Amino acid sequence: MIEWNSLFSERVIDLKASDIRELLKLTIRPEIISFAGGLPNPKSFPVEDIFRISQSVLLNSGEDALQYTTTEGYMELRKFLAARERSVGVISTEDNILITSGSQQGLELIAKSFLDPGDTVIVESPSYLGGISAFRLFQARFETVPLEEDGADLNVLREILKKPGAKPKLFYTVPTFQNPSGITYSKDKRKELAEISYEYDLTIVEDNPYEKLRFSGDKIKSIKAYAPENTLYISTFSKVLSPGFRIAWVCAPKDVIQKLVVVKQATDLCSNAYVQHITYQLLLRGLIDRHIPWIAAMYKEKRDIMLDAMEKYFPNEVTWTTPNGGMFIWVTLPEHMNSKEIFPDALKENVAYVQGGAFYIKGGYNHMRLTFVYESNENIVEGIKRLGNVLRNKM
Ligand SMILES: Cc1ncc(COP(=O)(O)O)c(C=O)c1O
Repeated sequence: MIEWNSLFSERVIDLKASDIRELLKLTIRPEIISFAGGLPNPKSFPVEDIFRISQSVLLNSGEDALQYTTTEGYMELRKFLAARERSVGVISTEDNILITSGSQQGLELIAKSFLDPGDTVIVESPSYLGGISAFRLFQARFETVPLEEDGADLNVLREILKKPGAKPKLFYTVPTFQNPSGITYSKDKRKELAEISYEYDLTIVEDNPYEKLRFSGDKIKSIKAYAPENTLYISTFSKVLSPGFRIAWVCAPKDVIQKLVVVKQATDLCSNAYVQHITYQLLLRGLIDRHIPWIAAMYKEKRDIMLDAMEKYFPNEVTWTTPNGGMFIWVTLPEHMNSKEIFPDALKENVAYVQGGAFYIKGGYNHMRLTFVYESNENIVEGIKRLGNVLRNKM
């Protein structure tokens, strides 16, 4: 009989399903109030619009939409996205756009294209778990930069870059309504990060899935707007249309796109053409951009309900962020508390969250990530009440 473990590549042999994947399996039980997964609220999906547009795509361009498309992606969609990105200050053309199967694929293609084993990637602390996984798959070594209220601590970033022989390949950031912390970089930090990238020839990977889900405050330019040549920008329709569509894009200098295209050919030839046609038609008719404020209003209400409930039911020693958009609140427990150890008690009360350590290369145990968008308003209050009791009992 084949001993499979002896055949896996060195790259993957030590990879294991993450703790949080295992925990998330438990949280799909219907009796659980889940603040855990990063799932959009299903009410945000414009099902009727998608139904109508799908029919019209099949009737009007079925032969094209059901065929393979180019690896770069459906040309009309790429042109539209290039123009749409001007809203975050990104000047690009269709030659700078690659359609990917989710932004997770964008991250993986970048990791595959840029990283040799042992190369350094600088990540925020905490950082998006899926980003860390993609870089880890290509055997990156990590350096971490702590997050402050207005973005990464750029003094620490400079220290890392000044180290003799330091030549990090990438700095990975989610600068707007970050997953998991909800933190947004200030304009000053965006500008300073751009300056640092030019000073040290640092490639920035800017992952921007939540920017359009803004509840308050002024719209802010992307980091790519300040460092266009040095930034590989990624965004997605997962949080504002449908994660099931798996439609996202990378916007990057042409040379980088050309390399990512060759790499993507080996991965999946092209992303789903039919869904790219539907997405384009939805965009063209304004159906996505007109729908986003409605989603943001629903999420804002849920954020406010969660924040009020936390104020009421959480012990005084616990603190949290107040995100101006996105999907996540980041909770800080007293240093001695460990959210992983508390998790079984929360599950007994049928409430779930993601333990903070999942988002750190090292440590982070006294944090937890709460998603406020998924549960009903009533469940948010009930779940926070239960979690408050669990925390109080552990104090
Ligand atoms: C920061 C960040 N990047 C990427 C992704 C992956 O999104 P997609 O569905 O586009 O692959 C997520 C999903 O939660 C995310 O939070």
